[in-house]
Amino acid sequence: MSNPRIVYLNGDFLPFDEARVPIMDRGFLFADGIYEVSAILDGRLVDNEAHLARLDRSLGEIDIANPHTLGEWVALQTELVARNGVAEGLVYMQVTRGVFERDFAYPPAGTRPTVMMFTQEKTVAANPLAAKGARVITVPDLRWKRRDIKSVALLAQVLAKQQAAAAGVAEAWMVEDDAVTEGSSSTAFIVTAGGTLVTRPLSTALLPGITRQAVLRLAAEAGLALEERLFSVAEALAAQEAFYTSASAFVMPVVELDGKTIGTGVPGPHTRRLRELYLELARAGT
Ligand code: PDD
Repeated sequence: MSNPRIVYLNGDFLPFDEARVPIMDRGFLFADGIYEVSAILDGRLVDNEAHLARLDRSLGEIDIANPHTLGEWVALQTELVARNGVAEGLVYMQVTRGVFERDFAYPPAGTRPTVMMFTQEKTVAANPLAAKGARVITVPDLRWKRRDIKSVALLAQVLAKQQAAAAGVAEAWMVEDDAVTEGSSSTAFIVTAGGTLVTRPLSTALLPGITRQAVLRLAAEAGLALEERLFSVAEALAAQEAFYTSASAFVMPVVELDGKTIGTGVPGPHTRRLRELYLELARAGT
């Protein structure tokens, strides 16, 4: 049965089965490209301008000229969401350095980047896992040193997520020098026994999470004490609450880490409040 989805590829809206990329695409050969993911809630894109600003930054960091203006991106995304009739889910955007005979160095100036987008229907707001809380395992962080770039080179995260899947849990928190760096596809937070919200500060060693940024703003407005610093696995295990954030998970409570209960073993009040506040913000169409 053919897939009824419509995707976007290099200027065209195409049936899923007709969208084809040549084998010499540098995304395929070298993972030479970047991507973004924005959530769709009530048919509208959530915090989308911040995602498109990060897309622009990721492109700049790897010397690919942004093929579209902000307005063009929004128009393309809006049309794709409408054509697929997605009320809740995700829009995925990817730009690679384009198609050229295999050679590590950049292809000649003027090589056209490959621009691709698709939507996925997914329950992001009424996710039953959010009520129960997620179980998480820790894995070693095997990634490179420019994690601030949202690169399509995701092999370390694929391996991490597969370990989580094999363990029957929702997410893997990556660990380096005993500190939690990030989730395999999310930003990690704890609330200490003293009630302070802790997440690591921005640097080239992590992705500047768009949901992280919104949650930190909401936490400050709600009067929560905040510390931007690394935290260890032991601290996470001793925390009152823990959660992770991403465009697809929003604010996801963590109730178990490596088989050990965090806090009372149910989503904590700060986490539930932050999830509610984030949902309100997302629904307000920011
Ligand atoms: N992942 N850290 C990593 C390593 C991520 O891959 C992601 C997002 C985040 C959270 O960023 P944001 O809040 O901007 O979504 C942090 C996306 C959702 C993905 O790869 O599907």
